[in-house]
Amino acid sequence: MATVTRAPSVFTTTPSISSSHQCHKSSSWVSFRVQHTENSTVSHHLAAFSSSGSSFFPTRDDKGLRKVRVVSAAMANSPRSTVLVTGAGGRTGQIVYKKLKERSDQYVGRGLVRTEESKEKIGGTDDVFVGDIRNADSIVPAIQGIDALIILTSAVPKMKPGFDPSKGGRPEFYFEDGAYPEQVDWIGQKNQIDAAKVAGVKQIVLVGSMGGTNLSNPLNSLGNGNILVWKRKAEQYLADSGIPYTIIRAGGLQDKEGGIRELLVGKDDELLQTETRTISRTDVAEVCVQMHWNFSFYCVVCYLDRVAVYMFVWEQALQFEEAKFKAFDLASKPEGTGTPTKDFKALFSQVTTRF
Ligand SMILES: NC(=O)c1ccc[n+]([C@@H]2O[C@H](COP(=O)([O-])OP(=O)(O)OC[C@H]3O[C@@H](n4cnc5c(N)ncnc54)[C@H](OP(=O)(O)O)[C@@H]3O)[C@@H](O)[C@H]2O)c1
Repeated sequence: MATVTRAPSVFTTTPSISSSHQCHKSSSWVSFRVQHTENSTVSHHLAAFSSSGSSFFPTRDDKGLRKVRVVSAAMANSPRSTVLVTGAGGRTGQIVYKKLKERSDQYVGRGLVRTEESKEKIGGTDDVFVGDIRNADSIVPAIQGIDALIILTSAVPKMKPGFDPSKGGRPEFYFEDGAYPEQVDWIGQKNQIDAAKVAGVKQIVLVGSMGGTNLSNPLNSLGNGNILVWKRKAEQYLADSGIPYTIIRAGGLQDKEGGIRELLVGKDDELLQTETRTISRTDVAEVCVQMHWNFSFYCVVCYLDRVAVYMFVWEQALQFEEAKFKAFDLASKPEGTGTPTKDFKALFSQVTTRF
């Protein structure tokens, strides 16, 4: 079950009904005065409405007009969720951070970066925290008070000097001491999940990589890091944590425009056997951001004699249910083939695997 909160707004079709609306931090009320209400069915409809999370208190004012007050437990003036993206200075993390900031009507965005230099790179504002995920204490301030966490940190292999592409062959890679996948992708991600659990975070999106089903995947021998093994271990830890999660195992990441390709979800690295095994970082970032709040509106209609009163209610669910407690591979068709993905609910509906 998604956590659902609702807050009503009331609109009427007739000037014989007046309305006012005031929001508080933890509640909202809407009152409207109705003439000739003795035989109206409003109480009946409002009672039904009440069962969806709001309360209604009919009273009379001094002009003999009936006044109906609506009290909601929802945060009508604060539908935004606070979302932290870690690895916010990274190539995909930066895009997620930017998207969160651009959607300030939906999100209070935060970033976690490893260095002051990275902080400056993404704007240097107070919502960018500096911390090292290998040091559990250093990430607590960033995680305090957030609703959702998007993990986009990763050990980063470095190319050994001296590689000359003109001579052919393959470059060699290494990890710096203390920055191997075991420390960054396992311990560092575990620290984030543990801190999120303590802080009561409601949702974690973890971006990992396709290829983890095959121990012999060449990425594992890169810099002797076993990167996919340690990433997989962290994914399992998240899946066992009890926190609602979504694990996105991306295909080869490309720095290309997003929103112009059809996205594909898969499982168990099956997409790696096809021609469609890459995806743009912008598309991965969009999927991460789409994963969170999902707003919908519905309308309750009350008939007062022959007058209709419409109540528009927004509903806020923690995420697309389809993607909750799920793990999936993500790639895209080449540009110009297929239909660019716009309906993320339909995309996530295709996801069937919990791990
Ligand atoms: N490259 C691919 O083709 C590919 C394919 C599939 C999946 N993926 C996965 O997709 C994700 C995003 O990839 P990307 O290329 O966008 O990432 P990226 O640019 O390599 O960014 C990784 C980020 O992690 C941060 N980080 C590393 N160690 C840290 C630490 N100890 N504390 C805090 N932050 C730390 C880095 O910060 P600094 O910059 O300060 O070091 C960097 O910003 C990664 O998990 C990656 O493995 C990649």
